Amino acid sequence: MTNVAVIGSQWGDEGKGKVVDWLSERAHVVVRFQGGHNAGHTLVIDGVTYKLSLLPSGIVRSGKLSIIGNGVVIDPNALLSEIEAVGKLGVKVTPENLRIAENAPLILPVHQKVDLMAETIRGKGKIGTTGRGIGPAYEDKVARRAIRVCDLADEGLLRDKLENLLVYHNALLNAAGAPSMKVEEILEPLLKVAPKILPFSTPVWLLLHQLKREGKRILFEGAQGALLDVDFGTYPYVTSSNTMAGAATVGSGIGMGGIGYVLGITKAYTTRVGSGPFPTELTDEVGATLGKVGNEFGTVTGRPRRCGWFDAVLVRQAIKIGGINGIALTKLDVLDGFKTIKICVGYKHDGKLYDYLPASMKIQAEVEPIYEEMAGWSESTHGKRSWADLPAQAIKYIRRIEELIECQVALLSTSPKREDTILVKDPFVD
Ligand code: GDP
Ligand code: IMO
Ligand code: MG
Repeated sequence: MTNVAVIGSQWGDEGKGKVVDWLSERAHVVVRFQGGHNAGHTLVIDGVTYKLSLLPSGIVRSGKLSIIGNGVVIDPNALLSEIEAVGKLGVKVTPENLRIAENAPLILPVHQKVDLMAETIRGKGKIGTTGRGIGPAYEDKVARRAIRVCDLADEGLLRDKLENLLVYHNALLNAAGAPSMKVEEILEPLLKVAPKILPFSTPVWLLLHQLKREGKRILFEGAQGALLDVDFGTYPYVTSSNTMAGAATVGSGIGMGGIGYVLGITKAYTTRVGSGPFPTELTDEVGATLGKVGNEFGTVTGRPRRCGWFDAVLVRQAIKIGGINGIALTKLDVLDGFKTIKICVGYKHDGKLYDYLPASMKIQAEVEPIYEEMAGWSESTHGKRSWADLPAQAIKYIRRIEELIECQVALLSTSPKREDTILVKDPFVD
């Protein structure tokens, strides 16, 4: 039996939530392994829209176990609010269907403050973060001063660790002219939420190994996308975690060999939220149309997403680095009605041709896309559930993408709705 990891192959918002929800029918367990509530995953089921940030997308199906792994940075208040919000939509979250890793680091109010302050200091060079404290929380983890879920059980330890953590952050806040934070300011609210969080706390690595032994199918749900990866993305305009499938092993404790298939979620065009290079960005009418038809507004921040043509160079790069075995192509329907469609097949920079995106931020900002143009299709693909119902020209577009990215389409999504999905190759079956 194959466990599957789902990751984004572009700059996030490729439709991971929809695909994980669809696939979770065949899985027993869904695991988040990196990121935090910077993620916004949308599920549309029977006319109800669910927007999930920290909760794995399996949470909406009864009988499935959802797990938040140690690689995720958890804001306890954000988690409790989300549990309440889905509760209002009829989804009951208890320790029966949700477990969180006892060794997951917490996002504290100081992290959010520092995140926003760092963005102000960056000025024109700002990353355009979600302002959720993600970066500073990961920094604290690596700097070995993070407060982790298990620490919530011990008030004395929590106080000591907070004192240590604030020595660092207060120096930073003061240097920027902001007042210090007091230990009590963070400690008291944390002690209040601790009894609500601790019942979910588990050694997730151990639980996963038991589940594996029982032959349970595990689905790993990535957040963000390959181009936001802290090593391989468009650094420094990235998030602060590794977003590739490899992160699923260290971000959950499943171990090497625990994942058999990596599904890369890929939008039929390209979008990006926040700052940073975007070679195929369209600031014209075409870009505006993609944004309008695709309803491209950030799930978390509501910011309009920047839109552009499909960049085969970047997706091919993500496929190689991410070890992607097959893609789920989403939002094909958004391209319905375009007379012509362009695909980026290479870059030009300073008289040189590139078939990959070099790491230099200067070159990344300056590359010029080389396009190939194809005829579009006038028929609608929206909501189509069978390959046979797709217009010939849409199939041509898919086939050309497969050729250019050197990877096959395993799933095709034709609307936000759960059922509007075409299975080409089942990722769970070898
Ligand atoms: P995620 O972060 O990767 O889970 O993606 P988001 O949920 O942030 O953004 C994807 C958006 O596209 C959501 O509003 C989805 O409901 C929507 N969506 C997903 N698949 C399709 C599709 O095939 N067609 C259309 N039109 N919308 C889709
Ligand atoms: P999902 O899982 C799209 C972007 C932010 C910003 C950069 C760094 O829904 O695909 P951060 O707050 O992480 O420090 O911000 O990363 N970003 C996302 N963009 N989808 C996401 O998640 C994102 N999560 C972070 O816009 O450019
Ligand atoms: Mg999203």
